[in-house]
This record gives sequence, structure tokens and C-alpha cells, in this order.
Amino acid sequence: MDRRKLVVGNWKMNGLAAQLGEVEAIGAFAAAHPSVDVGLCLPATLIAQASAVSGAAFIGAQDCHMKDSGAHTGCLSAAMLTEAGATSTIVGHSERREDQGESDADVAAKALAARAAGLKVILCVGESLAVRDAGDAEAVVSRQLLASLPDGAAADWLAIAYEPIWAIGTGRIPTMDAVAAMHAALRAALATRIGTQADGMRILYGGSMNGDNAAELMAIADVDGGLVGGASLTAAKFAPVIEAAG
Ligand code: 13P
Repeated sequence: MDRRKLVVGNWKMNGLAAQLGEVEAIGAFAAAHPSVDVGLCLPATLIAQASAVSGAAFIGAQDCHMKDSGAHTGCLSAAMLTEAGATSTIVGHSERREDQGESDADVAAKALAARAAGLKVILCVGESLAVRDAGDAEAVVSRQLLASLPDGAAADWLAIAYEPIWAIGTGRIPTMDAVAAMHAALRAALATRIGTQADGMRILYGGSMNGDNAAELMAIADVDGGLVGGASLTAAKFAPVIEAAG
């Protein structure tokens, strides 16, 4: 199955209007690499302005609420994000699962709300270091994926991001064999739920991906791109990752 590579930057709680020039430069670089789908998941405050300058890079959010509207101070609905210019959103990032106590059921509900508002979704899963050290990471993350998977999951609107928690922002990554084994396990888990749709669904790797390791990671058969934090904050750092996917 030939899956287009998808490379997405997650700026987390970084970025002010002063950084819109980086968005513009990344969008221009994406335009020069049309074989790769490139996006930036930005702070919500930047989505509207970024959408106007992002060129070939799509703009996404980092989370959305599962409800359409209501008394949820400080939260943003999927429709609000769509109106601002987002075309996709991350759900279930480990930092939100941990900081905001989001459950697998919350993550599935958020994915459905995003889809209903017309957003594409990147659903994150990944294990702690304790789980990795215990030797059952593939089973644990496969269970987490199936518990977080929304009804109607399909390759045309949903992608998965495997992000080992211990690799995020640490400069450490799993061995290539471990990444290959996990991505194969996740695709097999998907197939038990969605059958042949699993063949087309993109499974990204995330966690300390950068210009030095991206080519090797994305050469793995079931790795269909990357979800990139620190190395997506400037065009200079992100460009080699996009290049590695092309
Ligand atoms: P880093 O690339 O900074 O490790 O972050 C990965 C991540 O959490 C992307 O969502």
C-alpha cells in the first residue's frame, strides 16, 4: 500500500505572531515538496493569521473539546477551530492525557467532534518508560489505540501518531527495530477493528524526530511520517525533516 507521507509540526505552547515568518517559510518549503503532506498544529491564537500565510502547509489545532458549545470556560470547539482556519487537529497527545487527565473515551469523543466539524484528526498514543521497560509496550499501546479509536475511523480523515512518552523532548528515540515492531503491531490492531482500511491509514512516529534521524525513521515500512515538536519550530530545523520524507 502506497501511503503519502505526512509530516506535522506540533508547536505546543510556543509561538507568537513574531513567528509567523517561520510558518510562511515552512509553507513555502512544503510547496517545493509536493509529494509530502505538511502541516503545523499551532496554538489556537495563531491559527487565523497562520492560515493566511501558510501556503502549501495546512494549519491544525492541538486539541478540541468534545462538545459543540456550552459552559466550558477556556475550551474551544471544533467548529471554532474550523472557522479560524484549521483543517485538522491533534487529539489525545500524552501531554493532555497527563496534564488534563484525558481518558481514552474523551479522546475518541474529541476525534468524533472534530470529524463532525470537518477537521482531519491525528490521534496520539504511546507508552511510558515503565511500560517500555516492562517489555509489553506493543500490547499496552495497541490496547490504548483501540480504546481511543473513534467509530467510523477511516484513512481519509484519521491518522495515528505513535509517540513514546519517554522520547518526547528528551533526544532519546527507540531503536529502529522497536519502532518497526510497534508500528506493525498498531496496524495489525487497527485491522482487527477496521479491516482493510488499516492498510491506508497513516501511522506517524513522534518523539525527538529531527533532521538527523527522520530519514531512517521514515524509511521503516509502517512509518508514514512524523509528528514533530521541537524540530518544527523553525523552518531551518523543520525543512530537513520534510526533505527526509520526500
Ligand atoms: P519533540 O519532537 O519535541 O520530542 O515532541 C514530540 C511531540 O510531542 C510531538 O507531538
